[in-house]
Order: sequence, then C-alpha cells, then structure tokens
Amino acid sequence: MRQVNLGMIGGGTVGGGVYEAIRRNGALMASRLGVSLTIARVAVRDLKKARAVNIPAGLLTTDWQSVVADPEVNLVVELMGGTTTARQVVLAALKLGKPVVTANKALLSAHGEELFAAAQQHGTNLYYEASVAGGIPIIKVLREGLIGNRITRLFGIVNGTCNYILSRMKDEGADFDAVLADAQRLGYAETPPDLDIDGHDAAHKTGILASLAHGFWVNPKQIYTEGIRNITKQDIEFAAKLGYTIRLLGCVKTMSNGELRMGNGRPARGTKFAIRNSQFAIQVSVYPALVPNSHVLANVNGVFNAVYVRGDVVGDTLYYGRGAGQDATASAVLSDLADAALDLKCGTKNRIPPFIPHERDGAVLPMDDVVSRYYVRLTVEDRPGVFAKIADILAKAKIGISSIIQPEGHAGETVPVILMIHDAPNAAMKRALSAIAKLPVVKSAPVMIRVESFE
Ligand SMILES: NC(=O)c1ccc[n+]([C@@H]2O[C@H](COP(=O)([O-])OP(=O)(O)OC[C@H]3O[C@@H](n4cnc5c(N)ncnc54)[C@H](OP(=O)(O)O)[C@@H]3O)[C@@H](O)[C@H]2O)c1
Repeated sequence: MRQVNLGMIGGGTVGGGVYEAIRRNGALMASRLGVSLTIARVAVRDLKKARAVNIPAGLLTTDWQSVVADPEVNLVVELMGGTTTARQVVLAALKLGKPVVTANKALLSAHGEELFAAAQQHGTNLYYEASVAGGIPIIKVLREGLIGNRITRLFGIVNGTCNYILSRMKDEGADFDAVLADAQRLGYAETPPDLDIDGHDAAHKTGILASLAHGFWVNPKQIYTEGIRNITKQDIEFAAKLGYTIRLLGCVKTMSNGELRMGNGRPARGTKFAIRNSQFAIQVSVYPALVPNSHVLANVNGVFNAVYVRGDVVGDTLYYGRGAGQDATASAVLSDLADAALDLKCGTKNRIPPFIPHERDGAVLPMDDVVSRYYVRLTVEDRPGVFAKIADILAKAKIGISSIIQPEGHAGETVPVILMIHDAPNAAMKRALSAIAKLPVVKSAPVMIRVESFE
C-alpha cells in the first residue's frame, strides 16, 4: 500500500487531535483510501511542554524547516497558527512541490491569494477544510457538493465564542461582560477576546467562503465587520419580544442591478455603486443581526456553528455542527489529508481550485450601498412631539418606518423607543441616525442593529 508521510508543524490543540485521530482511525482511513497515513515528524515550540495528547518524543523537533525539507515528508500539515512563520512554512513546502493542509483562517485571510498562487505555480495543492466552521465540511460543500450552483445567498454563524455569548445573554438575561468573563474562564474565549468578539475571526472565515463561492479573491479590507461588543441585554430582550434572536452573521449575498433596489422596487436612493455589464456584485459582511425566531439560524445555540447556503439549482441547504475544538477540527483536517493522499496516489496536480471560477467578474459592494432593514433603539425624553421630530428626519431621508414600539414599564424622564425600519441603504441610515442623535430630545447614542429577512 502506498504510504504518505506527514510532517506536522504544530502539536497543540488541533495537532494533538490530529495525532490522536490518526492513531484511532488511521487503519480505517487506509482501508478506505488505499493509502496509509503516517505522522513522521512534528514541529513544536517547546519540547519540554506537557501535552494532553502524548506525541512520542522521537517525533518531536523545534526545527520546522527540517520537517518541511525532510525528503521523507510528502505532505505538510500547518497547525501552528499565526500569519508570519506559518506563511513561511506553507510557502517553503509549496515551493518544494509538497501539498499543504492548513487550518489557519487568519493566514488564508491575510495571504491566501499569494499562497494559492504558489500552489498553482508549483503544481501542487493547498487544502483548508478546517479553516472555516471546524467540523462542518463546508469547504467541500461549496467546492464539490454545490459545484453546479450559483451561490446566491450564504449566511454563517461561524464564530462559536460569539454564539455562546449571545445564547447565554438571551437564555439567562445576563450582561455581556459577565458572560464574556465566564467564557474566558471556561476556555471558550481567548484573552484578549478581540479577534472573536469584534468579528475579525468571523470575517476571516466569511471572506474565505465568499472567495470560494464567487471565484475571486475577496480582500479582507473590503469586508464590513462589526462585532458583538455593543450588544446589550436590553436589546436582546426587546428583540425577543418582537420575535427575533440576535446572532453574529457572516453574510454573502449576490446582487444584480435589479437587487440594488429597496423593497418597494425603487432604486436605493443615494447609492453610488453601479454594476457594469459583465459584472456581478456581492455583499460580504459580518454584523450582529436580528434573526426571525422562525428561522433555523435563530435556533443555533451555544458554541455550535451553522452555514446556510442557497444555490440557484439546489435551493436552500443547511450545515450544522461543532465549529471548533480538538476533535471537530481534527475531523476536518483528516478530510483534507484523505484528499491530499488520494491526489498524491493518483498524481493529480493542481486539482483543488482556490475558488470556483465564475464566468463573470465580481466585485464587493461597498457597505454604504448595501440595503438592509434595521432595528433602532432610541432613548428619548418622555413628552409629546418627540416621535414627530424623529419621523420628520426619516421621511426627509425617504426612509420608511414599519413600526414604532414604546416598551411598557419604563417610567422616568427618558424612555426607550424601538423603530423597525424598512429597506434603506446603510449610508442613508447612518446619515439619518446622526441627525436624530443631535435632536435635544434624544438622550443617548442611537443603537442600530440590522434585521435579516433571508429573502
Ligand atoms: N483550536 C481550535 O478549535 C481550532 C479550530 C479551527 C482552526 N484552528 C486553527 O488551527 C491552528 C492551530 O490552533 P491550535 O488551537 O491547535 O493552537 P495551539 O494549541 O496554540 O497549538 C499551536 C502549536 O504550534 C506550535 N508552534 C507554535 N510556534 C511554533 C514554531 N515557531 N515552531 C514550531 N512549532 C510552533 C506550538 O508548540 P508548543 O506546543 O510547543 O507551544 C503548538 O504545538 C490555528 O491556525 C487555529 O486558528 C483551531
């Protein structure tokens, strides 16, 4: 039987999981693939470190370069994290014509274009199933399962930390800071937590999915990113009363010229973006959104992830599972190892397209021109005439209010008011809210959260 020797760079949470999973299921995989996978060497930072998974000392080294260059190593598995040394590791392996498996979304987000080009140039493949949504095989779904579809909508709950925090805030009526501290204590959130709670990790993953689905590299700088730091217990409660659950969503939506319009069919006022004839535009963004409770994504709780994909042939599909953790992530790495092993066995070079090539050029729609619905919470003086002033500003901006709710039980000089706003471009909404914030009757900064209708 053909043997493939793995050189693993990183023997931590994921590396340990991969080592253990191959120990447990390596023979099963060999019987399925006709290729035997052997972990030949593992590079780590500290040889003396106590490890939860016992990797034999004879396999360990601190010299990643010797692992990558080892002529016995046919396949390099980058599980070290970070973007500087990891980039060098991946480039060094690809330049030697060795296929690489990585779980590193930050690396792909920062250097994906360069790394995929290097794989292409050196006649090999770069595999990255574990980089998005842990154990959910969403990369394979987009690359292979839905290859015959144009992906018109993709919504992902792809950050388990944020989903855990938002779920507990809703279930327990708890404050953000208290739940975050608990999540850090339990190991669900890093210290500092910024990469997760400010939406950057979700943006890395959403960008990878958008690039894969639409056939062009989405520059991370073009991804509008808003985290969950400003979501309050009060907004979660009001959203619940209105029939919604707040979730951090990665959104990838295809827009045609016709779709750059408001719900009433009129072109969105004040939008600047124009789609050229041969072009299509996609919205790629990450933000907390009100999700109707009847939608399946509202019921994805705790650290779980889910990705909802609409294809023009298949219709709506849903993928759900553990988005991180040792075993779930190892499962995704094993799937890439199997693909890489088969490609080595069959001598197929450049089989894995970095993205699914599209027949037209794509562009990322500026967030200012994206049309959304909104939940707005204002804190206003409790006296007559307040609504009229707010409604006047919105009317002048041609922004329609679908409902105004003044929650009961708030006595005092100021009261909360919730506005549910019809489709409006983000730029117009921002301008209107800044004018509303300046009204003397408005007593604190307006809170705006987008409402996702999944149309
Ligand atoms: N953890 C998850 O649930 C998860 C899920 C999906 C994707 N990922 C991705 O998987 C990757 C690994 O994450 P992880 O959680 O396994 O990280 P981790 O537990 O911190 O492990 C990192 C490993 O890399 C080794 N390492 C770091 N710098 C090195 C260097 N210069 N030379 C050699 N070895 C070096 C470390 O060595 P020592 O052990 O000696 O410190 C450690 O074994 C990251 O890209 C992460 O984003 C993780």
